[in-house]
Amino acid sequence: MPADIPVITVDGPSGTGKGTLSSYLANWLQWHFLDSGALYRVLALAAERHSINYEDVSGLAELARDLDVVFKHSASEEGKAVILEGTEVSVLIRTESCGTAASRIASLPEVRQALLDRQHSFRKPPGLVADGRDMGTVVFPAARLKIFLTASVEERARRRYKQLKEKGFDVNLPQLSVEITERDVRDSQRTVSPLRPAVDAAVIDTTHLNIEDVIDRVAVLVRDRFPDITGKTGRNN
Ligand code: DC
Repeated sequence: MPADIPVITVDGPSGTGKGTLSSYLANWLQWHFLDSGALYRVLALAAERHSINYEDVSGLAELARDLDVVFKHSASEEGKAVILEGTEVSVLIRTESCGTAASRIASLPEVRQALLDRQHSFRKPPGLVADGRDMGTVVFPAARLKIFLTASVEERARRRYKQLKEKGFDVNLPQLSVEITERDVRDSQRTVSPLRPAVDAAVIDTTHLNIEDVIDRVAVLVRDRFPDITGKTGRNN
């Protein structure tokens, strides 16, 4: 029964350390990993390639349902390669403009609904770590552990700037800060699945924490909620 398969959700805006934390947890526990933001990003890229615009809601929903995307383990790009219609797009989907396009598409209820089954299909034994904006509120509301990361806009922009630079993108910090703020407003104010913590989520402000601190705090929660699974493994052992 999928309902018996444990899920940890990690939600929050970009630049909070969500992706690094989720990858760490999936690796540590040897669970499956859903990067739901990558799904929205790939969909935005596919829409552009197929010349489907934002007004064509049914066209976008159909594209979302039929999307030919595969997530593969790889040594690069935080351990996962994203393949769209047979071509690797792992780096291409990481630009801030693709993030903005993803955020626009993600505000359409029909698109979110069309991606729901696909997201649920990632829940496979022995468990799932799901990273996104509405993992704990909408997609996996019964998850046993829900984490919500926050951080100041300035700090998140600084982290994203560093990340994008490291990936070889040409970025401008003030402009990135504006784009991130606009994306936050769109993601938090949309009517369907807005970005907000689930009532039972553990909220961690990472502004003044490094990623090791965040991992240590979350590891305590994981051990507490999953004593049977984490007894013999993990950080600090
Ligand atoms: O996490 P990310 O930056 O890769 O996500 C890109 C955009 O996709 C984000 O701005 C909003 C949207 N998104 C969403 O609406 N719901 C999710 N579960 C994940 C991402």
